[in-house]
Amino acid sequence: MSIPKSVLIVGGSSQIGLAIAKECSAAGAVVSVISRQAKPELLAPKTAPLYWFQDAEQSEESCKQQVDLALEQQPETIFICNGVLHNDEGMPEKNLLQLKSQLLEKRFHSNVTVPALYLQALYRYLTKKQNIKVLVLSAKVGSISDNKLGGWYSYRMTKAALNMLIKNLSIEIGRVNKSACLVTLHPGTTATPLSEPFQKNLPEGQLQTPHQTAIRLLKVSENLKPEQNGQLLNWDATKIPF
Ligand SMILES: NC(=O)c1ccc[n+]([C@@H]2O[C@H](COP(=O)([O-])OP(=O)(O)OC[C@H]3O[C@@H](n4cnc5c(N)ncnc54)[C@H](OP(=O)(O)O)[C@@H]3O)[C@@H](O)[C@H]2O)c1
Repeated sequence: MSIPKSVLIVGGSSQIGLAIAKECSAAGAVVSVISRQAKPELLAPKTAPLYWFQDAEQSEESCKQQVDLALEQQPETIFICNGVLHNDEGMPEKNLLQLKSQLLEKRFHSNVTVPALYLQALYRYLTKKQNIKVLVLSAKVGSISDNKLGGWYSYRMTKAALNMLIKNLSIEIGRVNKSACLVTLHPGTTATPLSEPFQKNLPEGQLQTPHQTAIRLLKVSENLKPEQNGQLLNWDATKIPF
């Protein structure tokens, strides 16, 4: 597999993001990470420089500041990993009666607003950088046409909105940079804190380790073409209908 020379990972403390960072770093790529968290000790650079930019604030200004620093490494591929399904503030809703407006707003912020702010800060770069690839981690449950089970209102609605954000931006960037490719990507069920409460009844073989998922997603990114700009892709690069 060929790994890009320079990779930027936003939301890089995500278990999937960290696994992508480790894989790229081990292959000699320059890795830049933006995260709310401080750099973990275990991620000490091995073969190539690893730049870690902490952005606890995630305001328009701080996103721009950290992105400007990260862009000094001229990334060829950008992963955006932010996404919250559950946390101390609440679990996904089983039905509409469980929906809380404050929690829905928080999920919208972490799952849509934060990726949008980083993309806004990246905007000029995306219009100019030849063959730039942007892979934004979404979820199959954000596909409206694929929804057969219902539930998980906040997560489904915010991932559907994220898919629209990327579709919209892909059109805008594609007008001025024909070589760009921006996609949303379902990583597949992966053993991370996000999926932890829901891992019990999965069919055998469905749950991937973060390392396995990182390899799959890097293969998707390796083969990504501008013709796929704006699509929602599965972990095996097949197209998921919106
Ligand atoms: N694991 C799965 O089975 C699975 C399945 C489908 C889709 N996904 C998607 O894959 C992506 C990575 O998930 P993961 O499984 O690696 O999850 P994870 O380890 O729980 O990572 C959580 C991610 O969300 C960000 N985040 C957490 N709280 C936030 C907040 N309040 N505001 C903004 N960002 C916040 C973190 O960014 P910081 O680095 O800034 O903390 C980190 O990137 C997510 O978008 C998720 O929806 C995962």
